[in-house]
Amino acid sequence: MLITGASRGIGAATAILAAQHGYAVAVNYRNSRVAAQEVVAQIREGGGEAVAIQGDVSREKEIVRLFSEVDDRLGRLDCLVNNAGTLERQMPLAGVGYDRLQRMFQTNVLGPVRCCQEAIKRMARSAGGRGGTIVNVSSIASRTGSPFEYVDYAMTKGALDALTIGLSKELAGEDIRVNAVRPAFIHTEIHAAGGEPGRIDRLKERIPLKRGGRAEEVAEAILWLASGKSSYSTGIFLDVAGGA
Ligand SMILES: NC(=O)c1ccc[n+]([C@@H]2O[C@H](COP(=O)([O-])OP(=O)(O)OC[C@H]3O[C@@H](n4cnc5c(N)ncnc54)[C@H](OP(=O)(O)O)[C@@H]3O)[C@@H](O)[C@H]2O)c1
Repeated sequence: MLITGASRGIGAATAILAAQHGYAVAVNYRNSRVAAQEVVAQIREGGGEAVAIQGDVSREKEIVRLFSEVDDRLGRLDCLVNNAGTLERQMPLAGVGYDRLQRMFQTNVLGPVRCCQEAIKRMARSAGGRGGTIVNVSSIASRTGSPFEYVDYAMTKGALDALTIGLSKELAGEDIRVNAVRPAFIHTEIHAAGGEPGRIDRLKERIPLKRGGRAEEVAEAILWLASGKSSYSTGIFLDVAGGA
């Protein structure tokens, strides 16, 4: 299993759970080498198999290199988790610059699309592959639009949802299932990137379950979609958002 952005947060929790389920895991990261190596060390201490592989998913050449390293170091690819994602400081869309829009779409949309293409080359039955699964980490922002916080981010997650639907239908005959999780209010460092580390505390009374979620709770949903346990589901969305 290749998990993009697995040095911390939801990706790291998914890597650890996946290893417990018996997957050999590629822990991709962009900058956080030490954190990624700690995830790998934790997996190996538990008797699992993992490697850390650097690669910025907003750069096409790095995606190509990332997949070729997965080939070399893990062999077969059964599952891709498109988890790496980013957001920037909260502000109304009117003030969002063009550079930021480009950064957002490169990481959150073009990166996952190119990763899907590389995964298809390796998994598709028609290319000699054994089939597989793709899980996209979207957000409930795709249906709320995240007004006054990050409409640009929400737009990228809307694009990821459309990718999930379209690709699931294109790849059903290739034995590749494509699904998505849509988390919200998960305790990770991403909220600090938006300029409000305490965002979940501010909003938690409005969440039906009255609390933020844990990365491990999202990882459980990702693992279900990645595994044969979800064998009759493709093109679906699992919201992990406390009822929001
Ligand atoms: N937390 C939430 O409440 C929430 C809600 C909805 C959706 N999500 C989605 O869940 C996913 C994971 O978020 P998180 O909350 O776990 O975030 P996080 O704690 O900020 O972790 C983000 C991870 O993505 C990696 N990353 C960022 N840009 C990258 C790039 N260009 N190439 C490769 N890796 C990159 C980071 O690696 P480095 O450390 O090396 O930069 C890090 O491992 C994202 O897609 C996010 O949109 C999160």
